[in-house]
Amino acid sequence: MNIIDNLLRDGDNLYDQWNLTDIPFAESAEKLDRLAQVFTGREAELSQVVNLLRSRDAKSILVYGWIGIGKTAFVRLLLEGLKRNLGDRVLTARIKLEANTDLSTAALIALAREMPNDEWAQYQLNRMGLRSSLPLRSRKTTAGGKLIFEGTVEESTVAPEAPQFPTLSFEDLLDRALQKHERVIIAIDDLDKQDPARARQLLLNAQGLLKGRAWFLLTGHPRGITHDYLISDRGLFDLSLKLEPLDPDTSYAMLVK
Ligand SMILES: Nc1ncnc2c1ncn2[C@@H]1O[C@H](COP(=O)(O)OP(=O)(O)O)[C@@H](O)[C@H]1O
Ligand SMILES: [Mg+2]
Repeated sequence: MNIIDNLLRDGDNLYDQWNLTDIPFAESAEKLDRLAQVFTGREAELSQVVNLLRSRDAKSILVYGWIGIGKTAFVRLLLEGLKRNLGDRVLTARIKLEANTDLSTAALIALAREMPNDEWAQYQLNRMGLRSSLPLRSRKTTAGGKLIFEGTVEESTVAPEAPQFPTLSFEDLLDRALQKHERVIIAIDDLDKQDPARARQLLLNAQGLLKGRAWFLLTGHPRGITHDYLISDRGLFDLSLKLEPLDPDTSYAMLVK
């Protein structure tokens, strides 16, 4: 049992909202991965996110702070904790934002990779020249009973093709995911690797996506935007969390672990 499991367990209200009758906790320490064992502090920030999760409506959260401050660790701990405590009720996905990728395409790739048994998801990945998690031989893809894709696929022969309408492709895939899961939570890591003007433009272009039916957790230090309306109360995000350096006592506890 660690901090994120405790927070999720204590949120009894949270489980009412999620209609949970029986909660599959990982009680034994052996089931915890290394991150959950070494993760230290950040309780106030974690509980702010857990509080937001009480909402039924999807929310968008920005986690920002300097490189090395612990954004990736924070997001991984949250996603892994949610998965461990809520199982298939939630679909969690995480992706690092690559240069020249818009947020919808990143979200589409992240989600498709978590849907290995969904032929359409795998077809989307394959079109983009990305490895499908299904065996490549004798795959069939049908849409409305009509066969749209059949046979052996050699990845090298499939021309990488960015989706023409990434937001629409993402919405279609999200529909499919929401048939099987109550919530879809997508983390897009490393907005800070883009230059500030580009990060800002990416966020502006993603307004519809961030206000949609999936939950989003974005991380970065998008310098140009951190103090303006994009992250204010009426801005793009329902919550923006700044990660500060850990205090000396917490740092010491972390080193001990
Ligand atoms: N709260 C924490 N407890 C223990 N280790 C942490 C914590 N936050 C970060 N770390 C460790 O510090 C290093 C840098 O963190 P990381 O999440 O990669 O930073 P960022 O994504 O902000 O650049 C990683 O090795 C990570 O495991
Ligand atoms: Mg990181």
